[in-house]
Amino acid sequence: MNKNNLHIKVSLTSNPYEIVIGESSLEDIGDELSRIGFKQGLKILVVSNKEVSDHYGDCIIKSLIRSKYNPKLLILKAGEDRKNQSSIDLIHNAAYEARLERGSLMIALGGGVIGDMTGFAAATWLRGIHVVQIPTTLLAMVDASIGGKTGINHAKGKNLIGAFHQPKLVLIDPKTLITLPTREFQAGMAEIIKYGVISDLNLFELLENQNNISNLLNIDNKLLIEVIERSARSKAEIVIKDEKESGVRAFLNYGHTFGHVIENLCGYGKWLHGEAVAMGMVAVGQLAIQRGLWKEVEARRQKKLIEKAGLPSKWPKLELENVLRSLKGDKKVKDGKVSFVMPLKIGEVKIFNNISNQEIEECLQHLN
Ligand SMILES: NC(=O)c1ccc[n+]([C@@H]2O[C@H](COP(=O)([O-])OP(=O)(O)OC[C@H]3O[C@@H](n4cnc5c(N)ncnc54)[C@H](O)[C@@H]3O)[C@@H](O)[C@H]2O)c1
Repeated sequence: MNKNNLHIKVSLTSNPYEIVIGESSLEDIGDELSRIGFKQGLKILVVSNKEVSDHYGDCIIKSLIRSKYNPKLLILKAGEDRKNQSSIDLIHNAAYEARLERGSLMIALGGGVIGDMTGFAAATWLRGIHVVQIPTTLLAMVDASIGGKTGINHAKGKNLIGAFHQPKLVLIDPKTLITLPTREFQAGMAEIIKYGVISDLNLFELLENQNNISNLLNIDNKLLIEVIERSARSKAEIVIKDEKESGVRAFLNYGHTFGHVIENLCGYGKWLHGEAVAMGMVAVGQLAIQRGLWKEVEARRQKKLIEKAGLPSKWPKLELENVLRSLKGDKKVKDGKVSFVMPLKIGEVKIFNNISNQEIEECLQHLN
């Protein structure tokens, strides 16, 4: 086993697990499963999609066979529009064909879409079997694979169907990012900038001090691992404090409330999730300035970093009524009020749920 792999503990009381980060750690998956107690002969369903499994499927299957496991590979079609019940049916059919049992395991090998779907399929097959996450996008490495939120979209909205189902292990191999399209890499950077603003000033400054954060080819390997590690730690710490999102976990929605509006109104596919979050962070920053919560100079630093990461910062042209209607339909509405996570300074945020329509109107006028 690779002794250089980093181990981060997600020490939840009932479902503790580790995030393992290391270059070429994909090859270690069999050893890692043995280390955490999975017995030889275990039936495993690896779920992936072609773009990912063409590069990494073989390596995973070989490692599992070397450790005397019994893996099968299921390849699904990629894309947010496939994150639905039909894909879950395909995973469950494969689970049936592979005769998975209560102690069996599913492995998600891919981005957040594969991770969310496989996690949900595992949560619901035989009332819950084990799942391991092997994220291959930057966004899934620092966010989606950690914390046990699983789910699929419903015709009426994104992620409306789901379950909390913690993985047994998250294995991150930053080398897999080599094949990730640049635009997807940049979308992942949005979530990393988010961690900087909500809780990690040092991470924010580390990114500010780099010449290039928009293209993997120009980023030093050590720096990339450090940035992934810090972000994964931030996520783990928040999840440990608040596994089921009744408190601080909501901080992770920074930029997402306005981001979801963009995704809803522009249609999924026009903007990637991370791009919408980037524009959402700029927008909520403006809202915070209006309230006197945040200094303009800090908002400018955030915008500059977002642009440096190659991400969009300009709010798209959207009708106010549509924005307000979309906000009211957000999952984060409670008692008819939308919650916003607002920045107080870089590294600190607070939740406010008393934002008036007038404030939102003023904010959008300012952004347009
Ligand atoms: N569960 C959570 O806590 C959580 C958090 C954030 C986001 N999400 C979900 O994550 C999803 C977005 O995930 P995403 O941004 O990873 O997108 P994605 O899963 O759609 O992957 C993006 C694209 O990259 C390709 N790809 C993935 N890894 C690759 C690699 N290494 N090389 C080449 N191509 C690769 C995929 O095939 C896909 O076409 C959304 O559905 C969102 O709701 C979940």
